[in-house]
Amino acid sequence: MFNKILVLLAVFGLLVFASNARSDEFTKEDLKKWREAFMEVVKEGERLFHSPLGRNKVSCDMCHPNAANTHPETYPKFQKQLGKVVELRDMINWCIQNPLEGDPLPLDDPRMIALEAYIKWERRGVPLAPGKH
Ligand code: HEC
Repeated sequence: MFNKILVLLAVFGLLVFASNARSDEFTKEDLKKWREAFMEVVKEGERLFHSPLGRNKVSCDMCHPNAANTHPETYPKFQKQLGKVVELRDMINWCIQNPLEGDPLPLDDPRMIALEAYIKWERRGVPLAPGKH
């Protein structure tokens, strides 16, 4: 009798363990959905990067073709234009305000997230090097 209870407890324990393990996983459909959502944002960033966002006709790609020379992997770092340690989004806003003569984007603006997503996607695989010049 006691042995049977032990076996039952063990089986029950295994079932609980297995169902917990499964709840931490995600399906192929989840991955596909999240990947598509991410790539949509990257595509929007690419569109913005090639559009005039300020009061003149200038767009980011004129000086940074394919997000060249934006070095997202080096942030946060000291930027002499701003005189302090800043994030990538602060330099995006610096370029919107200066070369593009526009108004800075709120830091949580979906357009800011899209620009960051595009710039970082273009540099995928490059090792992080915060603070580097
Ligand atoms: C007229 C040319 C010009 C345009 C247009 C321009 N930038 Fe820049 N960008 C610069 C210059 C100059 C710097 C400063 C380089 C430095 O000192 O790091 C810079 C720096 C940056 C940096 C930091 C680069 C680094 O190496 O740390 C980012 C990020 C950036 N720009 C993004 C943008 C984005 C996004 C746009 C469009 C909203 C844009 N830039 C438009 C000229 C431009």
